[in-house]
Amino acid sequence: MQASEITTWVDDARAAFLKATDLDSLKTARLAHSGDKSPIALASRGLGALSAEDKASFGKLIGEAKAAVADALAVATNLLEAERDRKVLLEEVVDITLPVNRAHRGGLHPISIIKNEVSDFFIEQGFAVEEGPELESGWLNFDALNIPADHPARTMQDTFFIEPIESGMVLRTHTSPVQIRTMLTQTPPIYVICPGRTFRADELDATHSPVFHQVEGLVIDKGITMAHLKGTLDNFARHMFGPNVTTRLRPSFFPFTEPSAEVDIFFNNRWIEWGGCGMVNPKVLATCGIDTDQYSGFAFGMGLERTLMVRHGITDMHDIVEGDLRFTRQFGVGL
Ligand code: PHE
Repeated sequence: MQASEITTWVDDARAAFLKATDLDSLKTARLAHSGDKSPIALASRGLGALSAEDKASFGKLIGEAKAAVADALAVATNLLEAERDRKVLLEEVVDITLPVNRAHRGGLHPISIIKNEVSDFFIEQGFAVEEGPELESGWLNFDALNIPADHPARTMQDTFFIEPIESGMVLRTHTSPVQIRTMLTQTPPIYVICPGRTFRADELDATHSPVFHQVEGLVIDKGITMAHLKGTLDNFARHMFGPNVTTRLRPSFFPFTEPSAEVDIFFNNRWIEWGGCGMVNPKVLATCGIDTDQYSGFAFGMGLERTLMVRHGITDMHDIVEGDLRFTRQFGVGL
């Protein structure tokens, strides 16, 4: 054994490690130059046969050689591992923008979404949500609301009467009978909204549907004035149409409110009729057994289709009733 041989082994090992292009070829180089059968290992095992003097000097040289080879191996390993990691990151990259073909989860109809939106808004302010039947007695739909027997709304052209006619049952033409049901069964203070399906004998066209939805609001308490009504409607309008919307009350007539008004909103640069409202007619309060000396109240009613159409610029009622997914999906799933 010669010292120069040992230097050559180290140089060979360094050169082989440097030449390795990946971790596999580095492993082959490692086995050849520092494995059990490598010249350095064999020389190390042969030390025992040397004289004490040679053992000491060669032992030192071989020890240093082993350390140098181990260092070179560590450097090469680090380099090749870093290289492999970089490659893996590039090769295994996932394109999260790639569209996939997945089944649609389904969702709520836009009318249900807006109904929930209105309900949530009023629930936050302490209102309760009341519902009533769609098949309603004529007394609750008309008489209790001070709508006289000869009122045009009570004709066959406007109302779906249910056979036998003597039953007096109708498909409710508005959500106002739920007001009556609430006042008959609860004592003031009353703060409720009544969203629901309503029916009128209209042909389906761009702006009408025989089946539509309303949301009714009713407040009965001590000292309730039209200012409370106006403030409630302003907040409601801002919630539905954005902070810049303006409301206006236009004098009108409903048998169950006195005074009565139409609520208009100024939206997209024009005045649009949104719904009806007024102070609950004392006659209606009396019918429901509410003491009109102590209590007063207001009521309002809006069409949900109309609200949705105005807010989203929908020009054809058919889009709302036909259930075409290309239309409804634009509103999100709402689940
Ligand atoms: N019920 C009325 C309608 O359907 C709307 C309304 C409700 C008006 C409450 C005033 C108060 O036209």
